[in-house]
Amino acid sequence: MATTATKTFKNLIGGEWVDAASGDTFETSIPATGEALGVFPRSGAEDVDRAVEAAKAAFEEWRLVPAPRRGEILFRFGQLLAERKDDLALLMAREMGKVIPEAAGDVQEAIDMSFYMGGEGRRLFGQTTPSELPDKFNMSVRQPIGVIGVITPWNFPIAIPSWKIAPALVCGNTVVFKPATDTPLLGERFVELLAEAGVPPGVVNIVHGGGGAVGDRLVRHPGVPVITLTGSRETGVEVMRNAADNLKHIHLELGGKNAIVVLDDADLDLAVEGIVWSAFGTSGQRCTAASRVIVQEGAYEELQSRLVAAAERLRLGPGWEDGVDVGPVINQAALDKIHSYTGIGVDEGAKLLTGGEVAGGNGLGDGFFYRPTIFGDVEPGMRIAQEEIFGPTTALLRVRDLDEAVRVSNGIEFGLSSSIFTRDVNKAFRAMRDLEAGITYINAGTIGAEVHLPFGGVKGTGNGHREAGQAALDVFTEWKSIYVDYSGKLQKAQIDTSE
Ligand code: UN1
Repeated sequence: MATTATKTFKNLIGGEWVDAASGDTFETSIPATGEALGVFPRSGAEDVDRAVEAAKAAFEEWRLVPAPRRGEILFRFGQLLAERKDDLALLMAREMGKVIPEAAGDVQEAIDMSFYMGGEGRRLFGQTTPSELPDKFNMSVRQPIGVIGVITPWNFPIAIPSWKIAPALVCGNTVVFKPATDTPLLGERFVELLAEAGVPPGVVNIVHGGGGAVGDRLVRHPGVPVITLTGSRETGVEVMRNAADNLKHIHLELGGKNAIVVLDDADLDLAVEGIVWSAFGTSGQRCTAASRVIVQEGAYEELQSRLVAAAERLRLGPGWEDGVDVGPVINQAALDKIHSYTGIGVDEGAKLLTGGEVAGGNGLGDGFFYRPTIFGDVEPGMRIAQEEIFGPTTALLRVRDLDEAVRVSNGIEFGLSSSIFTRDVNKAFRAMRDLEAGITYINAGTIGAEVHLPFGGVKGTGNGHREAGQAALDVFTEWKSIYVDYSGKLQKAQIDTSE
């Protein structure tokens, strides 16, 4: 990969590209090589306040643009993403680290979401319903709420912003967007393309900077009635707490400790493929990643040896190189955290079957690479079976039967994704019913959610909301019930009950 001159980028506020009020900046680098990538504004409260003012002003007109017209802008945005898909995927491989096919998939999710939500411009259905009184008409409509604070992570730098910003816009809201400090350049490209698609000035604003300064100000700002965050459980709890005084709507998509259950009757080749993809795809840096594999005892030994062999065949390298399966992890802190969990697993008495080390040499010297890591003989209570590692590490647990598998799968604080490999339809249906998770896959791994179904989880994964699909509309609209009395007299509901 040729070196790129480090470029300086700005915030977009009210349609103007501007520096942080303080003039401060931060620099980003390429996780696979350590090379510098870009310089971005290190914004603060003043920048957030300006962006919120711009978004509030823009809301007054944007909310009145007919929803189908707003949808058409999203169709254009989807087309632009499709035209630039290769460039964006390459940029993602460089800025975030994932391999090109996955990076293209990330962009594809945003294309799909833009088209799906663009179509919503001609739906946004409410209800019409009879009145209990004569000559009276009742209906409910979805109304936009105002300025949405969008706080996104680095692991899906194009897809996740689209899950939040596309529905926010089609519903008639305006946006202040704070992308992760590890992937600001893709955030910048995202808003540039929105502007090119025809989103008017001030409707989407981007403010770069850290969670402590920019995120926190957004969360506390009285002019931002909705916050949508994908991030860690700790951040989610803090956001809810800090937004409580303003009774904000908070949408949270937090961690996971997702398990794949493999029963004795499973197709083991298929299961191994599903586990490798779910545990090591995106270097395990998905909230849907399979960081536990719960195996019925009859299949355990065979599955373990096939899985270790498959993991050892994976090729590490920069995401943009052909034939690379696993890219780097995002930064030094992530690498340290992942490696510390290897130490924790060993200390807890789990058996390190493969990996467990930082991958150096062979041209990987300057990048944040970690070998795909599998622990065997893991007990459900061990920290490596309970805590989100967010890296290429997975834990094998042995169980007797489906009941125990379900108990172990559910025995964690999170509840995002879940999966079972079995050929027995009765067991599959019991798992669909009993696995405590927002998502259950049958004969597939834990990743690969599609944009037109609700995405999110139960228990410690969130606070009851969903993104994607129709469910997302509930985050970005308020219901209004409307009663139209055309009787010409004052009719009293609950009182004028009989003629
Ligand atoms: C995430 O990791 O935050 O189902 C999102 C999947 C992807 C989205 C993951 N479509 O794994």
